[in-house]
Amino acid sequence: MSKIFDALRKAETAKKTGSGKVLRPKPAKRVSSRGETSFMKGLDKDFRRSLLNLRNAIDSEIKNRDSRVVMFTSAVGGEGKTMISAYLARVLALGEVDRVLIIDCAVNNPQLHDLFGVSNEKGILDLLSGEAELSEVITVLDEGVMDIITIGTTRSADITQPLFNSERMKSFINAVAEHYDYVLIDTSAILEAPETPIIGALSTGIVIVVEAGRTKREVIKRAMTMIEKLDGEFIGSVLNKKKYYIPEFIYRRV
Ligand SMILES: Nc1ncnc2c1ncn2[C@@H]1O[C@H](COP(=O)(O)OP(=O)(O)O)[C@@H](O)[C@H]1O
Ligand SMILES: [Mg+2]
Repeated sequence: MSKIFDALRKAETAKKTGSGKVLRPKPAKRVSSRGETSFMKGLDKDFRRSLLNLRNAIDSEIKNRDSRVVMFTSAVGGEGKTMISAYLARVLALGEVDRVLIIDCAVNNPQLHDLFGVSNEKGILDLLSGEAELSEVITVLDEGVMDIITIGTTRSADITQPLFNSERMKSFINAVAEHYDYVLIDTSAILEAPETPIIGALSTGIVIVVEAGRTKREVIKRAMTMIEKLDGEFIGSVLNKKKYYIPEFIYRRV
């Protein structure tokens, strides 16, 4: 897998160098994730196919292709939001064509920096609080293909909600929606984090991750009711951690 990955990256770099058209703001931090993609190594073929199904669902549900900003949430924690959004980002990036950005907005339990092995010195919270510029918070994982914005270090819980509920957040989302083909946002559970619905209202699509056999139906319904009230388009639910750990894209309505 990593060899294919390297070959794809090389092809992409060559293509980008040729065209010279890289619209993205020049990021300050550059890391190579090639040695750090261990979490991709055991990626099961069926798991990957399921993720491609999820991509197709996202593509068909979001009508405006110019703005694919997809938020991943769940009713409660631990259902697999981070796992699904991070793997989906990787799978999209492996497709070579699309530029992908993944953003960690999971304030309760941010994990993307650890998962991708990047620094969390400056991230989305620093950007929103005016302590960092966009170029300082974008880390390039794979040149021209995949970038990441981690949560960052400004951590005062009471200021989190107003930070996301701001003009700065709106213009940030508009800017990244324009630059990337896919923007995936990992969040905290919608019933457990006040900023998650705010982020959902700014997204063009929302995916709810449901852990098979764990979360009670009434709890999922409560989460769905919240999502329905948001402006963001509901894309569907991913039934995760089924037997053999194959996440499955299922119904539009739980
Ligand atoms: N499809 C899956 N197969 C196996 N383990 C999974 C799967 N999805 C999630 N997990 C594991 O379950 C735990 C919680 O997943 P995580 O993505 O961190 O949840 P969340 O972000 O919703 O809190 C993690 O240890 C993760 O590795
Ligand atoms: Mg998580």
